[in-house]
Amino acid sequence: MEPLGIALLGCGVVGSEVARVLLDTPNRIAERAGRAIQLRHVLVRDRHKRRSVSIPDAVLTTDFRRIVDDHQVGVAVELMGGIEPARSYCLQLLETGRDLVTANKAVLAHHGDELFSAARRSRRAIGFEASVAAGVPILAALSHSLAANDITSVKAIVNGTCNFILTQMTEQGQSYAEALAEAQRLGYAEADPTLDVDGTDSCHKLAILARVAFGTSVEPEAIERRGIDWLQPADLRFASELGYVVKLVAEAWVEADQLALHVEPTLVRRLDPLGQIRGPYNAIHVVGDLVQDALFSGLGAGRQPTASAVLADLIPIVAGRARAENLDFDAGRRCSRLRLRSPASIGSRFYLRITAEDRPGVLAEVAGVLARHHISIASVMQHEALDEQEGSPVPVVIMTHTARLGDFRRAVALIDQLDCITAASVYFPVAE
Ligand code: NAP
Ligand code: HSE
Repeated sequence: MEPLGIALLGCGVVGSEVARVLLDTPNRIAERAGRAIQLRHVLVRDRHKRRSVSIPDAVLTTDFRRIVDDHQVGVAVELMGGIEPARSYCLQLLETGRDLVTANKAVLAHHGDELFSAARRSRRAIGFEASVAAGVPILAALSHSLAANDITSVKAIVNGTCNFILTQMTEQGQSYAEALAEAQRLGYAEADPTLDVDGTDSCHKLAILARVAFGTSVEPEAIERRGIDWLQPADLRFASELGYVVKLVAEAWVEADQLALHVEPTLVRRLDPLGQIRGPYNAIHVVGDLVQDALFSGLGAGRQPTASAVLADLIPIVAGRARAENLDFDAGRRCSRLRLRSPASIGSRFYLRITAEDRPGVLAEVAGVLARHHISIASVMQHEALDEQEGSPVPVVIMTHTARLGDFRRAVALIDQLDCITAASVYFPVAE
């Protein structure tokens, strides 16, 4: 049989590692798939850029048409990132009969239905394991191994950059800027790291997880989102004093027959399995009616873990059994009719840090506002002001019992208008 022609779209952090494996050890795929392969094209923006892998001149190109017009290309691996031109290129490749592997969560979260429709029309497959949690095989698990379950909750740390930054700040006392720069140097961050730190990347991954786990289409913009780019070291320290760590948690769960979703910095107990996920590691905790609890964890960013998932997706495609293995959004579940739950109605415990003048009656005023919004206080922590002067502003950390997000936000808005409050309050949900 002829070798199967492969085109690589993108040769950056992940693409260069995939190219290295395909060029240096082509038998790794060929032996597992039972068919030889040939890397025929590597598409880049700038062919003169220095790369960590040496790509033969005849293979390196800046011309996408060369790939579409080459009939020996049977599969394309999209590792460019971003929405356009990635979306148009992927559609053209599928429509001209090529299978596709992609790690691009942004394009899948926004245009996944369109891409999978094109793939079904052309009877092609899309491998997308690398798009969520890189080296952790969570999508295969949800689509296949857990397919008999009704999933009720997916709680996850799915951004390696953010988890790395939070770990470095908490454990090494690094500044946010230093930790972000190191995450970029190590190849964890997106080309535009704003997408990592403002929570957008986690929303993309949560939208994909929701599609695969619950069969529900979710626009990433519909997900309640806060990132880690506004966090203050003081809150990481207070969380630690209380026995918690702050994690960027992406969560989707069924509540009152509706699907609730959010991406937020969250206080997680230090001894909780998610609390112990450090550095660029990711973890996904799945609850299903039959399996009950399953935890998946591993390296969620970086060149090699991501290449691991990309190359694994290539094997059934090269072997010609990808359609039978059903590499598809709907592999496990048909579309469900779960409606999205309004964020305001979501219930949670909360961490609230107010900055208040240290004088009589202040806590009573704050407690009064919380009480009028049906919010019960679980604990209060206040340290003396540094200058020990009565009247100086001091941070006060209040942990609440479960409250509705809508009530809680209204209460915080009113607390921030009190004369005794000297700075905007900060709050996070607390994981159960
Ligand atoms: P990257 O380092 O920025 O590499 C992007 C590559 O695509 C570069 O080689 C670039 O060419 C090429 N490219 C970009 N736009 C292009 C265009 N319009 N035409 C032709 N080539 C273009 O990105 P990455 O970190 O490897 O990530 C690639 C994908 O994997 C993204 O979707 C990302 O979200 C996803 N992902 C990344 C990781 C990770 O840990 N990095 C993990 C999981 C998933 P030049 O080299 O010439 O600039
Ligand atoms: N920038 C992403 C992260 C890469 O840090 O998790 C993996 O998707």
